[in-house]
Amino acid sequence: MLNVENLSTHIGKIQILHDVSFHVDPGEIVAIIGANGAGKSTLLNTLAGLYRPTAGTVILHDEMIGGFPAHKVVGKGLSLVPEGRQIFPNLTVKENLMLGMYSKYYKEKKHAKENLDRILSMFPNLNKHLHNLGGNLSGGEQQMLAIGRGLMSTPKVILLDEPSMGLAPKIVNEILDTLVIIKEQLGTMVVLVEQNVKAALKTADRAYVLEQGKMILNGTSQEISSNPQVMSAYLGIKTGA
Ligand SMILES: Nc1ncnc2c1ncn2[C@@H]1O[C@H](COP(=O)(O)OP(=O)(O)O)[C@@H](O)[C@H]1O
Ligand SMILES: [Mg+2]
Repeated sequence: MLNVENLSTHIGKIQILHDVSFHVDPGEIVAIIGANGAGKSTLLNTLAGLYRPTAGTVILHDEMIGGFPAHKVVGKGLSLVPEGRQIFPNLTVKENLMLGMYSKYYKEKKHAKENLDRILSMFPNLNKHLHNLGGNLSGGEQQMLAIGRGLMSTPKVILLDEPSMGLAPKIVNEILDTLVIIKEQLGTMVVLVEQNVKAALKTADRAYVLEQGKMILNGTSQEISSNPQVMSAYLGIKTGA
C-alpha cells in the first residue's frame, strides 16, 4: 500500500501542504479532488520527489520513500504522469515510451522489450503510431502516451495529475476506462488527481477532498458524491443547505 502521513510542503517560505494524510490500498483507484490552486499538483510532485517535504512520511510497501529525489522514487515503484502530459513532441512514440524506463534501464534492460510490448498491447493506438512524432498525436493520444510512459517502469503506484484536462468527454471516458484496466490487469495502485470531480468519482473506489492544502473529507466515491458540501461546491448541485 501507499501510506502518506502528515505531509507538509513549503514552496519558498509559503506552506502549501498542511499535514496531508491519505492512503491507497492494493487494487484501489483513489481520487484526490479539489479546486484550482488547492495543492493537488504540489502533493503529487512532492510524492514524486520533485519537491522535498518539510514534514511527514511516505511509505510504499513498507519502504520509506519520502524525501528521496525523483529518479530514486521511480526506482522504488512510484511513477508520475504530470499535469499537461509533458511528452517530448520531437521524439517518436516509441522513444517517448522508452524514456519511461530510463531510471531502471541499466538494471532491467532485459525487460525493456517485454515492458514495451505489454504497454503497446494495452494501447493499440500507440502501437499504430509507434514511429510517429509525439507532437503529431491528438490530445487524447498524447495523454495515453504519457500514461504508457509512466507504466514503462512497472510502478507499484501511478499518480495522474488531471489526465482529463482539455479533452472532449468521450476521450475523458476512454482515459478513465484505461485506468480501470491498469488497476485490473496490471494490479497497479492508481492515484487520480482531478478538478473534473464528476469523472473522477465515477472511476475511483475512494476519494479525498483537498482544500487550501488540507484534506478536509474522505470516503467511498459514493459517500463523497452524496456529500452536500461536495455536491454544492464541486458538482454544481443545489442541496437546499
Ligand atoms: N512554484 C511555485 N511557486 C510559488 N507558488 C506555487 C508554486 N507552485 C504552486 N504554487 C502555489 O501553491 C498553491 C497550490 O498550487 P498547485 O499545487 O499547483 O494546485 P492545484 O494543482 O490544486 O491547482 C497555489 O496557491 C499556487 O499558487
Ligand atoms: Mg495542478
